[in-house]
Amino acid sequence: MKKGLFITFEGADGSGKTTQLNNIKSFLEQKGFDVVVTREPGSLELGKKIREILLHYDGVVADRCEIFLFLADRAQHVETFIKPAIEEGKIVLCDRHTDSTIAYQGYGRGQDVQLLKELNKIAVNGIYPDLTLLFDVSTEVAQERVGSEKDRMESIGIEFHKKVRNGYLELKNEYSDRIKLVNANNSIEEVFEETKNIITNLIQQKQGV
Ligand code: TMP
Repeated sequence: MKKGLFITFEGADGSGKTTQLNNIKSFLEQKGFDVVVTREPGSLELGKKIREILLHYDGVVADRCEIFLFLADRAQHVETFIKPAIEEGKIVLCDRHTDSTIAYQGYGRGQDVQLLKELNKIAVNGIYPDLTLLFDVSTEVAQERVGSEKDRMESIGIEFHKKVRNGYLELKNEYSDRIKLVNANNSIEEVFEETKNIITNLIQQKQGV
Protein backbone atom coordinates (compact mmCIF):
# COMPACT_ATOMS: atom_id res chain seq x y z
CA MET A 1 0.00 0.00 0.00
CA LYS A 2 1.17 3.54 -0.76
CA LYS A 3 2.47 5.34 2.32
CA GLY A 4 0.59 8.52 3.10
CA LEU A 5 1.89 12.04 3.48
CA PHE A 6 2.11 14.26 6.50
CA ILE A 7 1.83 18.01 5.84
CA THR A 8 1.79 20.61 8.60
CA PHE A 9 0.44 24.17 8.38
CA GLU A 10 2.22 26.72 10.55
CA GLY A 11 2.12 30.44 11.13
CA ALA A 12 0.90 33.22 13.36
CA ASP A 13 -2.61 33.50 14.70
CA GLY A 14 -4.36 35.42 11.90
CA SER A 15 -2.07 34.12 9.15
CA GLY A 16 -5.00 32.50 7.32
CA LYS A 17 -3.48 29.00 7.45
CA THR A 18 -6.72 27.29 8.55
CA THR A 19 -8.65 28.72 5.58
CA GLN A 20 -5.91 27.48 3.25
CA LEU A 21 -5.85 24.07 4.89
CA ASN A 22 -9.58 23.63 4.25
CA ASN A 23 -9.23 24.83 0.64
CA ILE A 24 -6.36 22.40 0.05
CA LYS A 25 -8.43 19.58 1.52
CA SER A 26 -11.19 20.21 -1.06
CA PHE A 27 -8.65 20.56 -3.87
CA LEU A 28 -6.95 17.25 -3.05
CA GLU A 29 -10.24 15.42 -2.54
CA GLN A 30 -11.41 16.58 -5.97
CA LYS A 31 -8.26 14.97 -7.35
CA GLY A 32 -9.23 11.70 -5.66
CA PHE A 33 -6.83 11.70 -2.71
CA ASP A 34 -7.82 10.33 0.67
CA VAL A 35 -7.33 13.36 2.95
CA VAL A 36 -7.77 13.89 6.67
CA VAL A 37 -7.67 17.23 8.43
CA THR A 38 -6.57 17.60 12.00
CA ARG A 39 -5.08 20.16 14.38
CA GLU A 40 -3.03 20.79 17.50
CA PRO A 41 -3.90 21.31 20.18
CA GLY A 42 -7.19 19.52 20.51
CA SER A 43 -8.28 17.33 17.65
CA LEU A 44 -9.19 14.29 19.76
CA GLU A 45 -11.44 13.94 22.78
CA LEU A 46 -8.58 14.05 25.28
CA GLY A 47 -6.90 16.83 23.30
CA LYS A 48 -10.04 18.95 23.36
CA LYS A 49 -9.85 19.01 27.16
CA ILE A 50 -6.21 20.08 26.99
CA ARG A 51 -7.09 22.74 24.39
CA GLU A 52 -9.76 24.16 26.65
CA ILE A 53 -7.17 24.69 29.39
CA LEU A 54 -4.53 26.03 27.04
CA LEU A 55 -6.75 28.57 25.34
CA HIS A 56 -9.35 29.44 27.96
CA TYR A 57 -8.10 28.74 31.49
CA ASP A 58 -8.17 32.12 33.22
CA GLY A 59 -5.76 31.40 36.08
CA VAL A 60 -1.97 31.36 36.00
CA VAL A 61 -0.41 28.74 33.69
CA ALA A 62 3.31 28.32 34.36
CA ASP A 63 5.46 28.32 31.22
CA ARG A 64 6.65 24.76 31.80
CA CYS A 65 3.11 23.59 32.45
CA GLU A 66 2.08 25.12 29.12
CA ILE A 67 4.89 23.26 27.34
CA PHE A 68 3.88 19.90 28.76
CA LEU A 69 0.22 20.43 27.95
CA PHE A 70 1.01 21.09 24.28
CA LEU A 71 3.36 18.08 24.27
CA ALA A 72 0.85 15.78 25.98
CA ASP A 73 -1.71 16.65 23.33
CA ARG A 74 0.89 16.02 20.57
CA ALA A 75 2.02 12.65 21.92
CA GLN A 76 -1.56 11.39 22.05
CA HIS A 77 -2.40 12.88 18.66
CA VAL A 78 0.59 11.37 16.85
CA GLU A 79 0.22 7.94 18.41
CA THR A 80 -3.51 7.49 18.05
CA PHE A 81 -4.36 9.51 14.96
CA ILE A 82 -1.52 10.81 12.76
CA LYS A 83 0.62 7.65 12.64
CA PRO A 84 -2.27 5.28 11.83
CA ALA A 85 -3.60 7.67 9.15
CA ILE A 86 -0.20 7.86 7.42
CA GLU A 87 0.09 4.09 7.58
CA GLU A 88 -3.33 3.78 5.93
CA GLY A 89 -2.00 5.84 3.00
CA LYS A 90 -3.87 9.05 3.80
CA ILE A 91 -2.70 12.60 3.27
CA VAL A 92 -2.73 14.16 6.73
CA LEU A 93 -3.13 17.95 6.82
CA CYS A 94 -2.34 19.16 10.32
CA ASP A 95 -3.04 22.68 11.56
CA ARG A 96 0.03 23.37 13.78
CA HIS A 97 2.54 20.86 15.09
CA THR A 98 6.10 20.81 16.51
CA ASP A 99 7.22 24.13 14.99
CA SER A 100 4.48 25.93 16.93
CA THR A 101 6.10 24.82 20.18
CA ILE A 102 9.51 26.09 19.08
CA ALA A 103 8.09 29.39 17.79
CA TYR A 104 5.63 30.12 20.65
CA GLN A 105 7.16 28.51 23.75
CA GLY A 106 10.78 28.79 22.55
CA TYR A 107 11.15 32.10 20.70
CA GLY A 108 7.96 33.69 22.10
CA ARG A 109 8.12 32.71 25.77
CA GLY A 110 11.93 32.48 25.82
CA GLN A 111 12.15 28.82 26.84
CA ASP A 112 15.20 26.74 25.86
CA VAL A 113 14.84 25.97 22.14
CA GLN A 114 17.24 22.99 22.17
CA LEU A 115 15.39 21.44 25.07
CA LEU A 116 12.06 21.96 23.33
CA LYS A 117 13.41 20.21 20.23
CA GLU A 118 14.33 17.22 22.39
CA LEU A 119 10.91 17.19 24.04
CA ASN A 120 9.23 17.40 20.64
CA LYS A 121 11.28 14.39 19.57
CA ILE A 122 9.91 12.40 22.49
CA ALA A 123 6.34 13.50 21.73
CA VAL A 124 6.41 12.56 18.02
CA ASN A 125 8.26 9.27 18.49
CA GLY A 126 9.78 9.11 15.00
CA ILE A 127 6.93 10.65 12.97
CA TYR A 128 8.02 13.78 11.05
CA PRO A 129 6.25 15.96 8.48
CA ASP A 130 7.11 15.48 4.79
CA LEU A 131 6.40 19.16 4.32
CA THR A 132 5.64 22.20 6.46
CA LEU A 133 4.00 25.29 4.99
CA LEU A 134 4.86 28.45 6.86
CA PHE A 135 2.24 31.15 6.28
CA ASP A 136 4.23 34.27 6.93
CA VAL A 137 2.43 37.55 7.51
CA SER A 138 3.38 40.83 9.15
CA THR A 139 2.46 40.81 12.83
CA GLU A 140 0.37 43.96 12.46
CA VAL A 141 -1.77 42.43 9.68
CA ALA A 142 -2.12 39.17 11.61
CA GLN A 143 -3.25 40.94 14.77
CA GLU A 144 -5.81 42.95 12.84
CA ARG A 145 -7.20 39.75 11.31
CA VAL A 146 -7.52 38.13 14.76
CA GLY A 147 -9.81 40.98 15.85
CA SER A 148 -10.82 41.85 19.39
CA GLU A 149 -12.06 38.44 20.61
CA LYS A 150 -8.78 36.89 21.66
CA ASP A 151 -8.02 33.60 23.43
CA ARG A 152 -5.32 33.17 26.12
CA MET A 153 -2.47 32.80 23.59
CA GLU A 154 -3.70 35.52 21.22
CA SER A 155 -3.96 37.98 24.12
CA ILE A 156 -0.27 37.86 25.01
CA GLY A 157 0.64 41.07 23.15
CA ILE A 158 2.28 42.24 19.96
CA GLU A 159 5.92 41.96 21.12
CA PHE A 160 5.39 38.27 21.91
CA HIS A 161 3.84 37.70 18.48
CA LYS A 162 6.73 39.48 16.75
CA LYS A 163 9.14 37.10 18.49
CA VAL A 164 6.99 34.16 17.37
CA ARG A 165 7.18 35.35 13.76
CA ASN A 166 10.96 35.72 13.96
CA GLY A 167 11.17 32.27 15.49
CA TYR A 168 9.29 30.77 12.58
CA LEU A 169 11.61 32.53 10.12
CA GLU A 170 14.64 31.13 11.97
CA LEU A 171 13.14 27.66 11.72
CA LYS A 172 12.56 28.15 8.01
CA ASN A 173 16.25 28.91 7.51
CA GLU A 174 17.30 25.97 9.63
CA TYR A 175 15.02 23.41 7.98
CA SER A 176 14.80 24.86 4.47
CA ASP A 177 14.24 21.42 2.86
CA ARG A 178 11.14 20.75 4.92
CA ILE A 179 9.69 24.22 5.58
CA LYS A 180 8.39 26.24 2.63
CA LEU A 181 7.43 29.87 3.05
CA VAL A 182 4.11 31.16 1.72
CA ASN A 183 3.53 34.91 1.56
CA ALA A 184 0.32 35.20 3.58
CA ASN A 185 0.10 38.99 3.18
CA ASN A 186 -1.38 38.31 -0.27
CA SER A 187 -5.04 37.68 -1.12
CA ILE A 188 -6.67 34.34 -0.22
CA GLU A 189 -6.67 33.38 -3.93
CA GLU A 190 -2.97 34.18 -4.40
CA VAL A 191 -2.01 32.34 -1.23
CA PHE A 192 -4.07 29.34 -2.36
CA GLU A 193 -2.25 29.25 -5.73
CA GLU A 194 1.14 29.31 -4.02
CA THR A 195 0.09 26.65 -1.50
CA LYS A 196 -1.40 24.42 -4.19
CA ASN A 197 1.80 24.56 -6.28
CA ILE A 198 4.03 23.58 -3.36
CA ILE A 199 1.78 20.66 -2.39
CA THR A 200 1.36 19.45 -5.98
CA ASN A 201 5.16 19.40 -6.37
CA LEU A 202 5.55 17.40 -3.17
CA ILE A 203 2.97 14.81 -4.25
CA GLN A 204 4.66 14.44 -7.64
CA GLN A 205 8.01 14.03 -5.95
CA LYS A 206 6.89 11.54 -3.30
CA GLN A 207 4.16 9.59 -5.04
CA GLY A 208 4.99 10.16 -8.69
CA VAL A 209 1.43 11.23 -9.64
P1 TMP B 1 -5.28 27.86 16.96
O1 TMP B 1 -5.77 26.45 16.93
O2 TMP B 1 -6.38 28.84 16.86
O3 TMP B 1 -4.17 28.13 16.03
O4 TMP B 1 -4.78 28.11 18.46
C1 TMP B 1 -3.74 27.44 19.05
C2 TMP B 1 -2.91 28.41 19.85
O5 TMP B 1 -1.93 27.68 20.59
C3 TMP B 1 -2.14 29.40 18.97
O6 TMP B 1 -2.11 30.65 19.62
C4 TMP B 1 -0.74 28.83 18.95
C5 TMP B 1 -0.63 28.12 20.27
N1 TMP B 1 0.29 26.97 20.27
C6 TMP B 1 1.45 27.04 21.04
O7 TMP B 1 1.71 28.05 21.69
N2 TMP B 1 2.27 25.95 21.07
C7 TMP B 1 2.00 24.79 20.39
O8 TMP B 1 2.78 23.83 20.44
C8 TMP B 1 0.79 24.74 19.61
C9 TMP B 1 0.44 23.50 18.85
C10 TMP B 1 -0.03 25.85 19.57
